[in-house]
Amino acid sequence: MEKMQDFLVMQQLYRSAIREITTKLEILDDEFRVRYAHNPIHHIESRLKSLPSILEKMQRKGIRDQDLAAIRRELTDIAGVRVICNYLHDIYRIRDLLVAQDDMCLQREKDYIKAPKENGYRGLHLILLVPVFLSAEKELVPVEIQIRTIAMDFWASLEHQLRYKAWHEVPQELHARLKRCSDASAVLDLEMQDIFDQLGGTDGMPPQDQEQVQ
Ligand code: GTP
Ligand code: MG
Repeated sequence: MEKMQDFLVMQQLYRSAIREITTKLEILDDEFRVRYAHNPIHHIESRLKSLPSILEKMQRKGIRDQDLAAIRRELTDIAGVRVICNYLHDIYRIRDLLVAQDDMCLQREKDYIKAPKENGYRGLHLILLVPVFLSAEKELVPVEIQIRTIAMDFWASLEHQLRYKAWHEVPQELHARLKRCSDASAVLDLEMQDIFDQLGGTDGMPPQDQEQVQ
């Protein structure tokens, strides 16, 4: 019973961190809409890892110690936020603005856009440490943030369904076709970005580090 209470307290902590990040993202998106008539964010999703998923992952990682301290030490994706952006450059814009905030600490970053996974998965992953102020102390809570375009999210969602809900193993030839779908979605992202830029979509916006996206 005591352990259950501790787990609920931990969940509340991670839920608070999700709320903080979500609010920050909504504020940035709002500001862009008001200032530049452009919403960088299409929508935001979030989830708290369930207890069965937590235990399954601890087991998968081969960690015997399964108390709360070990869980908090080993897992950085208990709190997960997925940000679906409209355009490619919006991803890096949101990333830069979030990371620049002085209460945010970037713990890890993986750019699967510059270097997609072998299967074609694309997305920008950040682990941010978020301060949560409680009655007695301040806790730094890791939140996994996945930033994707609509096209990246479309591909990842369907690929996930095919893989996890697969009726049988995905044959090699279909892996190759999935990879080609990812390549096609990358072309779409570049093309849509260019059309947006040609129409003056980013006029007046703060400069965005072009190097990052090429
Ligand atoms: P995990 O143990 O799976 O969390 O891996 P990791 O800690 O190395 O993190 P990574 O950045 O590789 O991926 C974390 C999350 O990104 C996953 O839980 C998925 O939500 C997403 N992801 C990563 N690779 C893929 C992929 O190939 N397909 C799909 N659909 N999603 C992926
Ligand atoms: Mg994960």
